[in-house]
Amino acid sequence: MASEALDIAERLSLFFEHWQPKALTRLNGYEIKVVRLEGEFVWHAHQDTDELLLVVAGELTIQLRDGNVTLNPGQLFIVPQGVEHCPITEGEVHMLIRLSRIRRDWANYFRQAVCKHTLGSPENVAGHRVIRWWKHLHRWNWKDVRRHLAGPNGRWRRPTADGIELFNIASVPVTRY
Ligand code: NI
Repeated sequence: MASEALDIAERLSLFFEHWQPKALTRLNGYEIKVVRLEGEFVWHAHQDTDELLLVVAGELTIQLRDGNVTLNPGQLFIVPQGVEHCPITEGEVHMLIRLSRIRRDWANYFRQAVCKHTLGSPENVAGHRVIRWWKHLHRWNWKDVRRHLAGPNGRWRRPTADGIELFNIASVPVTRY
């Protein structure tokens, strides 16, 4: 293994997509990732791990049920295991995250969250926005989306998330753009 410093800004400069964490390094079986965020995610909780969020650039507000926490560059917050939260940004945010055990794939993390969100409100704009993102991520067409989201009877499935749960879908504000 090379002995050299890891440059967070440099890693962030290598991609431009939002909500798609990229690997930086590993620590005790956890992955450390960098991610660009813009806009609002969905309410969710991590059932088997705390989540560390460190802002590198921009301003991130972590909405919690009992109040908001706003992070500026150089500030971090740990979302305790099982606590509902919903990130929302002011402009674009660059961030370092430590979350998943390596066995759990990050795409899976977002897919589950996105999936439940989509299922909760398949017709709303936010739902379509995340479906579009999901299609892009997995290079799916609409047939693939239906195959993965809808059961044989045509009803939207409600799979048990892999340690991720979303709450009060109806309370998620819909941003039109
Ligand atoms: Ni989270």
